[in-house]
Amino acid sequence: MRSQNISTKEYSELSNEIDKLRVPKHIAIIMDGNGRWAINKGFPRSFGHNKGVNVLKEIIKVSKNLGCKTLTAYAFSTENWSRPAKEVDFLVDLFEKVIDREIQQIHKNSIKINFIGDLTPFPESLKLIINKSEDLTKGNKDFTLNICINYGGRQEIVKVAKKIALKYFAGEIKPNEINEQLFESELLLKGSNDPELLIRTSGEKRISNFMLWQLAYSEIYITDVLWPDFDEIEFFKAIIDYQSRNRRFGGI
Ligand code: IPE
Ligand code: IPE
Ligand code: MG
Repeated sequence: MRSQNISTKEYSELSNEIDKLRVPKHIAIIMDGNGRWAINKGFPRSFGHNKGVNVLKEIIKVSKNLGCKTLTAYAFSTENWSRPAKEVDFLVDLFEKVIDREIQQIHKNSIKINFIGDLTPFPESLKLIINKSEDLTKGNKDFTLNICINYGGRQEIVKVAKKIALKYFAGEIKPNEINEQLFESELLLKGSNDPELLIRTSGEKRISNFMLWQLAYSEIYITDVLWPDFDEIEFFKAIIDYQSRNRRFGGI
């Protein structure tokens, strides 16, 4: 375990190493490893999900303080329905409890919250609280928090294709007017710039159907740290690593 002194020293050293002018404006995070963290400690997986919420709160605060403008967090994928019903129910319940508990503080901090994904299968009570919190915070300008639930990158792209087909059949567009800009304007995550940085915790080297369109040129940072152990120091390391990259976008 890190002693308080070392951790304070490491904190200030890493914090000083960050070029505050080149902090990514949009960071995407695959918050992975909650279950393994809990099992390793002899707890049920739900303990890891609870702890994961506290980590997200901390990372929202630190990214906002550093000057990042948008955080997009993957909380539940379209594939996560395949988990045991007990875990799915726990997560759905957790989303509702956490939004209810945190929304006033989020609003006070001038954070706009969006829930990205197909919300139709969720209980009415969750949909209601989501609508209320999006409505309450829609005018907030300091920071945008996108929480992806029942989100899948492929589903998002298929949805856009359907919308464009409908526009075509309504005579609103011609096939040669279909371009990247039009496509982007129909994405669930429209209006945010693509993330400059994707962080994935727990060491898995895959993107698990997350933001397939938007991650086209994002820098990817993978850490073995499990999400419930992720903290400000680990976040600083990700930013410093990002700042050492040479982003070429196909150039030389
Ligand atoms: C990420 O942690 C949270 C969700 C997918 C909801 P996991 O629950 O996937 O934890 P591991 O990967 O099984 O350890
Ligand atoms: C990705 O994690 C989804 C979320 C973090 C919400 P998973 O744990 O579902 O991903 P896989 O199954 O390891 O690819
Ligand atoms: Mg996982």
